[in-house]
Amino acid sequence: ALRGSFAPKAQKANQGSGYGLQPVASYKVAILGAGGGIGQPLALLIKMSPLVSTLNLYDIANVKGVAADLSHCNTPSQVLDFTGPSELGNCLKGVNVVVIPAGVPRKPGMTRDDLFNINANIVKTLVEAVADNCPDAFIHIISNPVNSTVPIAAEVLKQKGVYNPKKLFGVTTLDVVRANTFVAQKKNLKLIDVDVPVVGGHAGITILPLLSKTKPSVTFTDEEVEQLTVRIQNGGTEVVEAKAGAGSATLSMAYAAARFVESSLRALDGDGDVYECAFVQSNLTDLPFFASRIKLGRNGVEALSPSDLTGLTEYEEKALEALKPELKTSIEKGIAFVQKQP
Ligand code: NAI
Repeated sequence: ALRGSFAPKAQKANQGSGYGLQPVASYKVAILGAGGGIGQPLALLIKMSPLVSTLNLYDIANVKGVAADLSHCNTPSQVLDFTGPSELGNCLKGVNVVVIPAGVPRKPGMTRDDLFNINANIVKTLVEAVADNCPDAFIHIISNPVNSTVPIAAEVLKQKGVYNPKKLFGVTTLDVVRANTFVAQKKNLKLIDVDVPVVGGHAGITILPLLSKTKPSVTFTDEEVEQLTVRIQNGGTEVVEAKAGAGSATLSMAYAAARFVESSLRALDGDGDVYECAFVQSNLTDLPFFASRIKLGRNGVEALSPSDLTGLTEYEEKALEALKPELKTSIEKGIAFVQKQP
């Protein structure tokens, strides 16, 4: 159930039909920031989903061409483009899932928190429009720093009187995707079988892969645990440095975000067996938001997984305690950003 594959239904529909997928459901998805490095490949992957009938692409620039290009793919969904704030409301009306990768990415030497000043305002403005136009939608926040932008979104939704904590998600799927890949490589496992839960948040040491809970069950030496944990935590920085100023992870992020969208659509469609890790409102620790495994259902988060945080190794226990102060500060920074505004 925790596999990184796309929906069984989608795979079935795909068999023998190439990319000319047969529609199996008719959900509407909007991407805000669709012209960007993540937005474009994410739009392509979502365009391939047989669960989607309409794909609305919004950006402040360059989105018309992306939509024209994608609209020629012979998959069921209709692609529409929306440019600039005056078209944002129409982009969001009737939408089931809104994905937000709008904002600036990191350059070498930057932390995710360095993006706060620009991205906080972008996320606030976009979520205000979501609250006004599709308050019932699942909201997937990709824009960094996720540890702060999710609390920002929650505060905006509260101010608008439409906050539903079960439907607001910080997208941490890429951390799970990386963990699965790196662990499979290190232990010579078949990738499709590997699933590593990643908890905490989405920045540096707040990213905590629970290697002891890897499925299938594997044993790691202390050295392997240390190496793998650090590599998973720094996966984003590995890409930022390799791109040397041209941005951060976009393709692997689009892949991960598409997986989370597909899981959300399957849950909306009544699949009772959908689990993902995400950064959500949580009571698993004393922090108001925390990433952990969640069961997804028609109404969003159906259940958290308290057993994720029991039976941890000493290394994981320590890392969990060590991440809490940083995560708490980032969450509070997001909340304060909205509350201090007139
Ligand atoms: P990019 O710069 O290539 O694209 C961002 C897009 O957002 C651009 O097309 C831009 O026009 C648009 N945009 C800017 N202001 C906007 C506004 N007010 N309304 C709508 N669109 C707006 O950046 P990229 O690489 O796509 O990254 C986007 C965000 O995703 C960054 O904040 C980055 O840090 C974050 N990210 C998150 C990850 C995660 O695991 N959650 C992983 C990788 C990146």
